[in-house]
Amino acid sequence: MKFEKLLMVLPLAMLLLSSCSKEEVAKLDINNELKYSENQVHRTLSEIKGQDKMPRNIMDSLVHWNLVNIEISEWTAGFWPGTLWYNYENTQSTDDLAAATHYTELLKPLTTLPAYDHDLGFQLFYSYGNGYRLTGREDYKQIVLNAADTLATLFNPKVGTILSWPREVDNGRFAPFNTIMDNMINLEMLYWAAKNGGNKELYDIATKHAETTMKYQFREDGGNYHVAIYDPLTGEFIKGQTHQGYSDSSLWARGQAWAIYGYTFVYRETKDERFLRFAEKVADLYLARLPRGEFVPYWDFDAPDIPNAPRDASSAAIVASGLLELSQLENDKVKGEVYKNAAENMLIELSSDKYQSRQSKPSLLLHSTGHYPNGSEIDASINYADYYYIEALTRYKKVMSGISIQRNNK
Ligand code: GLY
Repeated sequence: MKFEKLLMVLPLAMLLLSSCSKEEVAKLDINNELKYSENQVHRTLSEIKGQDKMPRNIMDSLVHWNLVNIEISEWTAGFWPGTLWYNYENTQSTDDLAAATHYTELLKPLTTLPAYDHDLGFQLFYSYGNGYRLTGREDYKQIVLNAADTLATLFNPKVGTILSWPREVDNGRFAPFNTIMDNMINLEMLYWAAKNGGNKELYDIATKHAETTMKYQFREDGGNYHVAIYDPLTGEFIKGQTHQGYSDSSLWARGQAWAIYGYTFVYRETKDERFLRFAEKVADLYLARLPRGEFVPYWDFDAPDIPNAPRDASSAAIVASGLLELSQLENDKVKGEVYKNAAENMLIELSSDKYQSRQSKPSLLLHSTGHYPNGSEIDASINYADYYYIEALTRYKKVMSGISIQRNNK
């Protein structure tokens, strides 16, 4: 390696190595954690049997899932079916296949509606998309192709992004045209559709959205604004704001997690090195700002009450999963190792008695924060933390076996 290059990655590598003395002895027993996940998933299945609703969260003081109705406004509706698909991928049991199929197909009413917002990918790609990946069912494939076309109806070519919320949110604070960082994740369904028989323009829409977001929705240091406001007629970027973070200029942990995960697969799909360098930039900022020696962030890196602020385990799970993919895509071996080790440390910490729910409740993880400024889902088990945790565990097993985790290359 060139000396200059070594100097560039050394601080990050040193930071990660020096901060993991306890992790040097701890190891991730991946089969044990997957078995744990299977047991918890089965506990949830027993608890919610016959209700045909989705488990959404368990607040810190409670022990049973809060179930939600399946409706287009429920952005998390796809995470439980997605968790069941990963569990089936790991167990290969016919009962687990039946459970994943059942909860996926409960989403059927959502598959023919016009776009309510950008969350269609979370809802339908993680349910039907994972279902297609594991079963090859043609009817599931068609549902995802249709969902991608529906999502694309929200694209504004003048702005170059998808409109995330085509309705009033927070008393119109995000008018006249908003794009939120979470929207990056839903681009994966567009890329998938473009190469699986869908409209080829979906690739261009996804890439344009990623480019525009990269240009306007980040600060110089690589930190993101949760919401970008644009003029829908001229395409002009007006300002960056927060919705779920501490302030407009703070670093909301899950927003940065979405960016790391999103730009990683944008690079996977485009092979455009600008996106690889950008995924590194947003990941390096996140890693550098983690509390020293710890791998689960506070809900916002700039929360004023740190170290007493709540954590967000969901961000750690999303980032662990994203970094595992980034480590495989890296063309710089040293950086690839840094990302793999960081992901491993995140999974070790998430798999500790501090973060796993274990006997206390049927979720996989504790201590996520949904919407702090709204006072909702603070220090809770949340379905998307569990989804990305089981995805990351599944990816980790593949990485350690030298198997490619790139999910969409069907
Ligand atoms: N708005 C989706 C999230 O909480 O990340």
